[in-house]
Amino acid sequence: SSFSLDQFPKEKFLDILDVYQLDGFWYSGDVIPGVLAFQSGFEARSDDVILASSMKTGTTWLKALLACIMESKSTKIIDDAGEEVIDLLQVKNPHDHVKSLEYLYNFNLHSQIKDMQSPRVFNTHLPYSALPDSIKNSDCKIVYIARNPKDTFVSTWHFFNQILRPIIQEPYPIEKAYDSFCKGVHYFGPYLDHVLQYWTESLKMPERILFLKYEDLKKDPKGEVKKLACFLGRPFANEDEVEKVVWRSSFERLRNLEVNKNGVLPHAMIPNSSFFRVGNVGDWENYFTEEMKQGLDEITCMKLAGTGLHFDM
Ligand code: A3P
Repeated sequence: SSFSLDQFPKEKFLDILDVYQLDGFWYSGDVIPGVLAFQSGFEARSDDVILASSMKTGTTWLKALLACIMESKSTKIIDDAGEEVIDLLQVKNPHDHVKSLEYLYNFNLHSQIKDMQSPRVFNTHLPYSALPDSIKNSDCKIVYIARNPKDTFVSTWHFFNQILRPIIQEPYPIEKAYDSFCKGVHYFGPYLDHVLQYWTESLKMPERILFLKYEDLKKDPKGEVKKLACFLGRPFANEDEVEKVVWRSSFERLRNLEVNKNGVLPHAMIPNSSFFRVGNVGDWENYFTEEMKQGLDEITCMKLAGTGLHFDM
């Protein structure tokens, strides 16, 4: 095809990767064709559920929670040995349960989208402004997960160190990665603009967009998961059910399941296990200098001033 990335502003990210700018946000060159095809081709249904997030904010966790909440009570799952399996999360990893729309379009897997049974659940890393009109104009529900920028950055840095391992053996210098993050020049960045777009829209349309925070989920998982289930019109029958879903999706449990310990994300050589690292709030303290802390806190304060949004860190 005649598609060329030359038309998009380009920057280096972590010295090695190219990022391209599309309507104010930065993307990997690999993803841009998928983004464009998704924007023009996706037809939303009113009962779709779209999980939106930037990178490393708890997407995998939310995918697991959504898989549990949206599963049909009558579905029986039989494993290879003919045994009935009680939990979908044992059979497939969260990324298999909830697929990324830009990924499906990127790898020409989008024909399966039309054939999927309702209610469909997808995820996207696109900012709100880049979502297809079909989503913006439909009644489908959007769940957004945000995370404090310092932990998001540390998680992102570790993630790229893992991906770049075949090219550079040493961890990429954290100060340099930090500068890119603060400038907003990273995949799906600027991060705080991404967060604020969904925050603003969620205030305008609370019945359509649920804005969740990683830190709230850690602090009060039962309360937040109940909120999520109610938002999706699938309230729990009792406390037992809530506790079960929280446990099934917990970091400790997921990271020890075979489906998450082994294998890689298809088409991207990313180990499934890399989506389960520490799973805590405040890991940034182990990496940030005082100067880095002050710098990112200042940017965050300025960006969030007057928006009503704040993060516990
Ligand atoms: P850390 O790197 O800080 O450990 P994403 O899924 O958006 O890529 O985000 C990954 C981050 O979420 C990682 O953070 C990962 O450990 C954490 N995570 C994954 N599953 C989780 C779970 N069930 N509960 C809490 N955190 C989880």
